Amino acid sequence: MKLAVVGGGSTYTPELVDGIARLRDELPVTELALIDPDARRLELVAGVSRRMLAHARHPARVLATSSVAEGVAGARAVLFQLRVGGQAAREVDETLPLRCGCVGQETTGAGGLAKALRTVPLVLEIASTVRTHAPDAWIVDFTNPVGIVTRALLDAGHRAIGLCNVAIGFQRRFAAGLGVSPSRISLGHAGLNHLTWERAVYLDGEDVLPAILRTHGQEIADSLGLRLGLLQRLGVVPSYYLRYFYAHDAVVREQRSKPSRAAEVAQMETRLLELYADPAVVAKPELLSKRGGAYYSEAAVALIASLLGDRGDTQVVNVRNGGTLPFLDDSAVIEVPATISATGAAPLPVPPVEPLYAGLIANVSAYETLALRAALHGGADRVRDALLAHPLIGQDEIAEELTGLLLAANRDHLPWT
Ligand code: G6P
Ligand code: MN
Repeated sequence: MKLAVVGGGSTYTPELVDGIARLRDELPVTELALIDPDARRLELVAGVSRRMLAHARHPARVLATSSVAEGVAGARAVLFQLRVGGQAAREVDETLPLRCGCVGQETTGAGGLAKALRTVPLVLEIASTVRTHAPDAWIVDFTNPVGIVTRALLDAGHRAIGLCNVAIGFQRRFAAGLGVSPSRISLGHAGLNHLTWERAVYLDGEDVLPAILRTHGQEIADSLGLRLGLLQRLGVVPSYYLRYFYAHDAVVREQRSKPSRAAEVAQMETRLLELYADPAVVAKPELLSKRGGAYYSEAAVALIASLLGDRGDTQVVNVRNGGTLPFLDDSAVIEVPATISATGAAPLPVPPVEPLYAGLIANVSAYETLALRAALHGGADRVRDALLAHPLIGQDEIAEELTGLLLAANRDHLPWT
């Protein structure tokens, strides 16, 4: 089975290769095509990937190419993990909104909008090359902002599913806390990508979330940077992206007083690339665990294995709403547990969502509709509308100022400016 990775020169790729090697029984990969426009990165990442596979006695061959057409030809699945403008563009996403008192984040708020504007046009172009050269392939999208990008892909008629590691991260963490195998844990996970709440945690079908909050609540709250009282009162575990909402002003203060995550990641990437260049490195370096992508290979392998193997199991993915959350448009993209089979992902029913979450979900989903419109059709007015609709921005003068700043900073990456 051929697997292609768009953005294969990412320093994250060895995480995926490690998963391919470990999970070979689940997904027998015979060829891994790494596609990237950056020749130097591609060479280093392909090199370490080949050594890792050889060291694990895995038979897959690695193809490194800058041609999407060549890379995806014959692939059964294509992973999208590209980042337009690299960490430099991310640095702008994370710092520019701070000037207006808004959170600086690469997927949430104004930074997330800038990323969507840069990313959607290119992703659609690449997807149409996939359609030409690998018409039956599944596109698995890791490229952020996953909700908006997945919606763009689905609207254009592609066989696409959006994926994020937040849910699998919680599943693994709850399993470890309870001392059980992750396969016994399933989640009552609902919302939009990077805007989700765990409303139940099932151990062999029984909801153990109240017990988890009693025994591990403080630890979980600390790791999310939220107050235990909030988790106890709500009886849910929000994803750490909810901190940008529930503690917005505190986050802005913190962000103003320290280097951006992009700057941290850029440093790590320099070191990772040095390691990948070292012929003695034949395994995923420990440093990679400092990145946010834990378990992303497990999530990708499991999803592709179920799509190709028609397994019919449940996984948390980004799919078309289709009435699952009745307060959203059917065409919205949501992140919920779904049945994964050869025909794709079918969202499972979600118990009625409390107004406390439904209001925010509806608000951000409306923002996503406007963000996608701006990414597809361009124009400062569409950008301003999306910012005005975002619950973390919402003020006319701030939306106006951010529109100017964001368009000026991203000019080189926007096809319509
Ligand atoms: C998590 C999120 C991803 C995001 C990543 C950032 O994994 O689910 O969507 O890209 O964190 O990690 P980084 O190490 O780049 O900050
Ligand atoms: Mn994610």
